[in-house]
Amino acid sequence: MSLPQETIAAHHVDPAAFVVANTAVDSPPLVPEIKLRLASAMVPLWHLTEAELEATGQPPPYWAFAWAGGQAMARYLLDNPEIAAGKRVLDLGSGSGLVGIAALKCGATAVTAADTDRFAAAAAAINADLNGVTLDCTDNDLLDGPGLGWNLVVAGDVFFEQPMAGRMEAWLRHLAGAATVLIGDPGRTYLPKTGLVKRASFRVATSRELEDSDIRSTHVWQMMPNATH
Ligand SMILES: C[S@@+](CC[C@H](N)C(=O)[O-])C[C@H]1O[C@@H](n2cnc3c(N)ncnc32)[C@H](O)[C@@H]1O
Repeated sequence: MSLPQETIAAHHVDPAAFVVANTAVDSPPLVPEIKLRLASAMVPLWHLTEAELEATGQPPPYWAFAWAGGQAMARYLLDNPEIAAGKRVLDLGSGSGLVGIAALKCGATAVTAADTDRFAAAAAAINADLNGVTLDCTDNDLLDGPGLGWNLVVAGDVFFEQPMAGRMEAWLRHLAGAATVLIGDPGRTYLPKTGLVKRASFRVATSRELEDSDIRSTHVWQMMPNATH
C-alpha cells in the first residue's frame, strides 16, 4: 500500500485527520475490551513517516501501535482496578492512549495522557472517545517540570532509546517518592537495572514487523524512589 499524496498533506495540517486516514479500529490482543485506531498496514505507515516525513522532524508513528509494554500495563490495571480507582493518573509516553484509557475504565478520577508527539495526543483523544472516556491529552514535555499532582504514574514501553530513557528514569525516580510509579516493559535495552519491583508478568503476542519475536515476555514493574542514589 502506498499512501496518496493528499494523505501525506493531511499529516502536515491536521493530526486527527492523519490518524483517522491511516488507521482502522481494532483491539490489542491482550486488551480486547479496549478499541483503538491502529495501523492496519503498519509497514507502509512506518516507512512513510521515516522516509518521507523525517525531514519535517516528525517521529515514527508509535501512536499507531499498542506496544507490548502498554498492553501489559493496561491488562494489569484492568485486572486490578483498585490500583487506579479514585486516583489522579499520568500516562507518560501515552502513544495510542491505551494505558490511560484502561485507568479511566478502572475508575480513575482524571487521567493526563502525555506524549511529546502531537500526533499521539490526537490519537489518544480519538481513542478515548471510541471507548466512551475522556483523556486530558498534552504534547508538552512534562519531564521539564516538577511533575506534581498525580497519585499514580503509569508508563508503557518508554525505555527503548537514549537519551529519552535516561530522562524518563530520572524524572520517574523523583516522582516515585510521592506517587505510585508503574512501568510496563518487554525487556527494552534501557529499562533501569535496579530499583524495580516486579508486580506482574504477561506473554504478549506481537508482530514480527515491530519486534524480533511473536511473543514478548513482558513485566509490570513498580519503580522505587532514589534506588540508584
Ligand atoms: C513505544 S511508545 C509507547 C506508547 C504506549 N505507551 C504503548 O505502550 O503502546 C513510546 C512513546 O513515548 C513517547 N515519548 C518520547 N519522549 C517522550 C517524552 N519526553 N514525554 C512523553 N512522551 C514521550 C513517544 O512519542 C512514544 O509515543
